[in-house]
Amino acid sequence: MSNENLKTVLQEKRTFQPQDHFQKNAKIQSMEAYKEKYRESIENPEEFWANAASELHFFKKWDRVLNAENPPFYRWFEGGKTNICYNCIDRHLDSATRNKAAIIWEGEPGDEVVLTYADLARKVNQLANGLKKLGVQKGDRIAIYLPMIPELAISVLACARIGAVHSVIFAGFSADSISDRINDCQAKITITSDGVWRKGKKLLLKNIVDEAVKKCPSIEKNIVVKRSHKDHFECAMDENKDIWYHDLIENCSLSCPAEEMDSEDMLFLLYTSGTTGKPKGIIHTTAGYMLYSYYTSKYVFDLQPEDVYWCTADIGWITGHSYIVYGPLANGATCLMYEGAPNAPHKGRFWEIVEKYRVNIFYTAPTAIRTFMKWGEDWVNKYDISSLRLLGTVGEPINPEAWMWYHKVIGKERCPIVDTWWQTETGGMMITPIPGCTTTKPGSATFPFFGIDATILDKDGNEQDTGFLAVRKPWPGMLRGVYGDEERFKNTYWSQWENIYFPGDGARRDEDGYFWILGRVDDVVNVSGHRIGTAELESIFVSHASVAESAVIGIDHEIKGQAMVAFVSLREGNEGSDSLIEELTQLVIEKIGKFAIPERIIFTADLPKTRSGKIMRRLLRDIAEGRAVGNVTTLADAGVIDALKEKYQED
Ligand code: WTA
Repeated sequence: MSNENLKTVLQEKRTFQPQDHFQKNAKIQSMEAYKEKYRESIENPEEFWANAASELHFFKKWDRVLNAENPPFYRWFEGGKTNICYNCIDRHLDSATRNKAAIIWEGEPGDEVVLTYADLARKVNQLANGLKKLGVQKGDRIAIYLPMIPELAISVLACARIGAVHSVIFAGFSADSISDRINDCQAKITITSDGVWRKGKKLLLKNIVDEAVKKCPSIEKNIVVKRSHKDHFECAMDENKDIWYHDLIENCSLSCPAEEMDSEDMLFLLYTSGTTGKPKGIIHTTAGYMLYSYYTSKYVFDLQPEDVYWCTADIGWITGHSYIVYGPLANGATCLMYEGAPNAPHKGRFWEIVEKYRVNIFYTAPTAIRTFMKWGEDWVNKYDISSLRLLGTVGEPINPEAWMWYHKVIGKERCPIVDTWWQTETGGMMITPIPGCTTTKPGSATFPFFGIDATILDKDGNEQDTGFLAVRKPWPGMLRGVYGDEERFKNTYWSQWENIYFPGDGARRDEDGYFWILGRVDDVVNVSGHRIGTAELESIFVSHASVAESAVIGIDHEIKGQAMVAFVSLREGNEGSDSLIEELTQLVIEKIGKFAIPERIIFTADLPKTRSGKIMRRLLRDIAEGRAVGNVTTLADAGVIDALKEKYQED
């Protein structure tokens, strides 16, 4: 967390109790009830999770809830057979939910699609059959590079239905990032679209995929969705490789039996940045992830049958996987999906959508909230957003000021706020209020979810008030590995302490036991809720012929939470210039995508180093943030995270 934000967090004393109107219909209505359920979940996790799982459909019941014989390779619901797509769709088809909206989609230009559960079933079955026609088999990997259109959710579900492993690549990534991800998992098929509307402009996605797959020999076919039924987007089709989505599904049967998957069969891969130059493919498997996304959605969003629920994330990130597609649909909820930007065509677009569809639950990122604050409340007040009953945040620490604004301007001091801490790796929410029972504090993610044995430890595993966040017990939604790299899985998450999960975040627990997440303690920067490894950028810069060395750090940013500043030292005979900055920026766009461009690139003769040759990032941060250079820290001037980082990175 940034210095300024940390200061305000450390001083935060306000509390907000659940209000009667919410509490009286909530699933959990008192702190006593939460504590009792939490205690059961920790004292008897197997029984707890078995009971929870009995709410879902298994073709064959499991033999064993948890196999913890070979940590950190935990296995959940072994011997069970299930299918997450079946649970998200078919399970609802025998009830009134059949004719309820599953997905309400709004395009950026204002076009609309509403799919009931029965509609969604037909579309998913058809595509599943289409994929089979192309020879896709259980276990095959499929790369999905789609914008936020219904076909993205449909593709994800169709893969799950036939047991193909999806790897969704956020549609802001560059061709190089796509090919790295495809090659890492040897995907056989890509699914993309001709284009997408972004801030009123056409973005041609198919071209980016064409560029990427030139370097991907494993790809056999490219399925292309026509974003619009008019020929808005120019798109060249290669007759051997490319196939239109609508041609593929034409004449495909509307029924495709869901594959009976083993509980631990791989469900999806999702690549995320770490501390090295190469993103890792986080593995999630079937039954545990299904249960965890289902169960957290049910309690944290307190889903009621009539709710319209809107998560503004992109399905390209974990938040969209767990809380646009799987969790809400497994609950039979109505999910809103929006294609575009919050300011297209105007800055009131989100509130216009809330008013139009009478949205009840709204889940977004702190960076979005800070942007809305900057735009001003007039944009909000133009619309009737009184349908909202619950608000959530995710992706980065929320500063109390943004929390208060959210509470007042969006929630009208009526809606509880759930600040949910979790990660790609955790599959679902881990530390979060339960609305209806938790008294919240602005900036605190409050308490662990059921079954989550969270604590704060120092390097040596002693409990502390401030230190590294840690999770002592396995939970169903946990990652099962890093694709093709067992060592990295063990080293990154399980080597800090024995059999305790290390998330890489710093945290503090206050006198009331509330958790306050302070930010990453490794070299991962959280820019607008996007995780970017500083090492990824550094390796891009040093690949440029003029660059000798580079160090990238994260600094405080008013809107984005954090921004990156790159220090670059040049090889002899080279000079820093605007054109070199431009070249380096282009390189970042080419290798990762626009969202990873650093805020500033600073040329420097040398990088400050310790005697052992380590770059002194704390000094660089002082320089970038304009503070007097020094290493004196007190809690109030926010050395906490820096100090933790240094501890974590000590040799
Ligand atoms: C950060 C997103 C504070 C944290 C679901 C974590 C948060 C990383 C919060 C994971 C929160 C996420 N408060 N920090 N409520 N939620 N983070 O994998 O540093 O994209 O480790 O998953 O985001 O980011 P990821």
